[in-house]
Amino acid sequence: MVLTNQYEQLIGQHEGSYLSFGIRAFLCICKKTRGVKGAVTISIDIVGKSFWKDKQTIQVLEDVRLTIVPGEFVTVIGPSGCGKSTLLKIIGGLDTDYEGEIVIGERRVTEPGMKQGFIFQEHRLFPWLTVEENIAANFNLKQAAIRRKVDELIEIVRLKGFEHAYPHELSGGMSQRVAIARALLRDPEILLLDEPFGALDAFTRKHLQDVLLDIWQEKRTTMVLVTHDIDESIYLGNEIVLLQARPGRIHKILPVNLPFPRNRTSTAFQSLRQKVLSEFEKTDELLLTDGSGI
Ligand SMILES: Nc1ncnc2c1ncn2[C@@H]1O[C@H](COP(=O)(O)OP(=O)(O)OP(=O)(O)O)[C@@H](O)[C@H]1O
Ligand SMILES: [Mg+2]
Repeated sequence: MVLTNQYEQLIGQHEGSYLSFGIRAFLCICKKTRGVKGAVTISIDIVGKSFWKDKQTIQVLEDVRLTIVPGEFVTVIGPSGCGKSTLLKIIGGLDTDYEGEIVIGERRVTEPGMKQGFIFQEHRLFPWLTVEENIAANFNLKQAAIRRKVDELIEIVRLKGFEHAYPHELSGGMSQRVAIARALLRDPEILLLDEPFGALDAFTRKHLQDVLLDIWQEKRTTMVLVTHDIDESIYLGNEIVLLQARPGRIHKILPVNLPFPRNRTSTAFQSLRQKVLSEFEKTDELLLTDGSGI
């Protein structure tokens, strides 16, 4: 990753030149072939997903096909109700009632498992457990290896000093960091995040985005993060998957070839933002032209 960052910085410095073009092509080949220790490929092949509601079948997802390479950070955006959470639940094995298949590494996903870490919009901590007990959950904190890992994660998510606090004594951002640490303790091959920072103030949100990037750069866990925030999708993702609604389909996949750490005010960032926004607006137009409204 450090190497990739250096290449990405070079691209930034030589934007528009043959050198940047050559480096991009090289990175693209590396991306398709690289092996990231512990990370796995996610093959998504959803033919269809529907719900039964008010005596009607609602087709929520259709023909969603996507391959996520090991160590990738994919962000998913799309209009409200287009099926982002449903997609994430299917990838995580929380919803298996659909047509198609999800394969993680060599394994077909048939149920939730330790290898698919899931972080929800609300943190879902156990109110009767302390921070460290919430992180450990079903693992035994008295085991030296678990104790060491929990302590390490408390450092990573910057919760030192709060090990013995209960959820009601924490802020929203702190609770979300506990949830992130809990997911990471299970050493997931992939981390699925459904609008994890949606309810937080801008400052805490920015801080947690950086925490997540640090974790990703250190552990290279494959990340799939759903967000409503276009800036967040560009700030974090290698690739942005833009979904359209009714039924939910992939409208566009946009690569983000900006070096880390990303500068939200840079021209390159802003021009990509404009591009994502205009694609996003097209998905709204699609909704309006099919007569179903927004
Ligand atoms: N359990 C359910 N039963 C019936 N319909 C459902 C169920 N879960 C989701 N839906 C419907 O499926 C569609 C997609 O829902 P989903 O929660 O995946 O959307 P989303 O893209 O995550 O939306 P948001 O951005 O608002 O979180 C919606 O129309 C929703 O009403
Ligand atoms: Mg949702």
